[in-house]
Amino acid sequence: MHEEVSNKSNNREFEDVLNSYMSRRSLLVGSLAGAALTFVGARVASASASNGSSAKTASQVVAAKSPKIGFTSIPLQGSPMPTIAPEYSYSVLIPWREKLDGSGTSFDYAGFTAAQQEKSIGIGHDGMWYFGDNKKGLLCINHEYGTTPHLMGKTVPTSAADVALSQTAHGVSVVAIENVGGKWKVAKNKKNRRIHVNTLAQMSGPVATSSLIQNVANNPIQGTLNNCANGKTPWGTYLTCEENFNGYFGSTSTTWKPSAEQARYGLTAGGFGYDWHKFDARFNLADANYVNEANRFGYVVEIDPNKPGSQPIKRSALGRVKHEGAEVVEGKDGRIVVYMGDDERFDYVYKFVSKSNWKSMIKAGVSPLDEGTLYVARFNDDGTGAWLELSPSNPALSTWTLDKILVYTRMAADVVGATKMDRPEWIAGSKTGEMYVTLTNNTQRGTVGKADVNKANPTKVNTYGHIVRWKDASQYLGMTFTWDIFLLANETFDEGGQMFGSPDGIWIDSDDRVFVQTDGEQPGKFNDQMLVANAKTKEIRRLFTGVKGCEVTGVTVTPDRKTMFVNLQHPGDGDPAISNFPAPYTGASGPVPRDCTIVITRKNGGIIGS
Ligand code: FEO
Ligand code: CA
Ligand code: CA
Repeated sequence: MHEEVSNKSNNREFEDVLNSYMSRRSLLVGSLAGAALTFVGARVASASASNGSSAKTASQVVAAKSPKIGFTSIPLQGSPMPTIAPEYSYSVLIPWREKLDGSGTSFDYAGFTAAQQEKSIGIGHDGMWYFGDNKKGLLCINHEYGTTPHLMGKTVPTSAADVALSQTAHGVSVVAIENVGGKWKVAKNKKNRRIHVNTLAQMSGPVATSSLIQNVANNPIQGTLNNCANGKTPWGTYLTCEENFNGYFGSTSTTWKPSAEQARYGLTAGGFGYDWHKFDARFNLADANYVNEANRFGYVVEIDPNKPGSQPIKRSALGRVKHEGAEVVEGKDGRIVVYMGDDERFDYVYKFVSKSNWKSMIKAGVSPLDEGTLYVARFNDDGTGAWLELSPSNPALSTWTLDKILVYTRMAADVVGATKMDRPEWIAGSKTGEMYVTLTNNTQRGTVGKADVNKANPTKVNTYGHIVRWKDASQYLGMTFTWDIFLLANETFDEGGQMFGSPDGIWIDSDDRVFVQTDGEQPGKFNDQMLVANAKTKEIRRLFTGVKGCEVTGVTVTPDRKTMFVNLQHPGDGDPAISNFPAPYTGASGPVPRDCTIVITRKNGGIIGS
């Protein structure tokens, strides 16, 4: 989805900083090879059996000494079916509309209703986490995007029933799964449930009592939507992140104009064209009874998968942005740190630090996600960075109240001088304490009076994106960090072309394999994909390609790392002429494609990525 740039502040863009840094470091390193190896990892040809060998790069020579990634890299694909490395296989789990009762059957496509959707797997599979052992457990899975035409059988809703169907297709599924005879399937379980846009929820933390979320209608906190990436806590709960919430709101009044705060969050009269506001007053920005409803979305939401009667809790201390994901790590004194991206061109990277040791807080009856401090990142020219506090204690925010900072977080971050980034998506931590953020792309780079191309950013329109990593001082708790570029996607080649674009999902295993998933423009307009990179050498190979029109997203494994779950979102963009997946491709007269989870295993039973 592309929107107008909503950040009009004068903070320095990440590109400016990066360009300056890269130029300077190139001089310091003093050789092109050194610069490429250190910062770019450029032209790392994959050792693909299908594309033959080419002259080995420096990275490959290093990789040969630590062959952690042992599968055959596969070519890019434009197929209506997925492909996977020859050493691996995949199967399909929980497609959209499969019933939650464990019967293994699905509701029919024709005449599908909101009441049926509420009892089945949602659409738009995205971030997820598996809580279980190697044979059975609970899978919590986000349903980000539920308004493709194939859901309702029409482009826009024309009734309240259509809107209800769309709303119940969003949210989260909690579903018990088990491996029976080598095949994963849904298990009958009282914990299986759907959370969607109309599920009763709670707001906690500093915003809970704020007037900024009160409506004249005095309606309860209700629902979660556009659930993109995710997180999980050390105490066993799931975090689901509300991303492009603005797109679901609109105005029925021709005279409605957004406030400065609404504009900064991209709220417009038309929204993204979902038209919920025409049938549900909660999403009508012009309805005087619900003027603050939009301030109730854009949060990290906690769900306890083991308590089916519990309500989702919006953790306002983590701020209100277009939350992409929430990577939780533990500091040495037991405080937790949550790293988060705000997916918008020229928006920011955040971290939250809990007030004290998480175990002590829980013992005292306080959620570690309710009390703590939020920070936003500034990336300095010299490869260092700083975390800028977002609280009234920061002199730059002394006239702000804490609830205002946490509801209008983007604007507070503008004030303190955070660094504008190229759409921060997922953040993943490595065992060595480095955090990696995917910066998916920024197609307006150099086109809106911002930094232009230079040596470090060779395309005027940054179509393919890059990955930045940093390491905080004092095991996540420090206020300073050092950073470098892990990969520039448009400088990472395999035989015959560029290797990937639009990095989005990312996860790093305990052996430092970096799993990168894509959502968007790929070289040659090929399908989205999942790659595996070596964190040290930057060697990168392609493990899996999705089907035409889909996004590859969501990544979680069993504890032995021998089973991986990955999602295919909107295969064929919902059009059977493009793909019928998971059914074999038979064309336009075949079944409507279904979003689903893919189960990946290595044929020899090895660890995924090996
Ligand atoms: Fe939902 Fe930024 O991807
Ligand atoms: Ca994403
Ligand atoms: Ca994305």
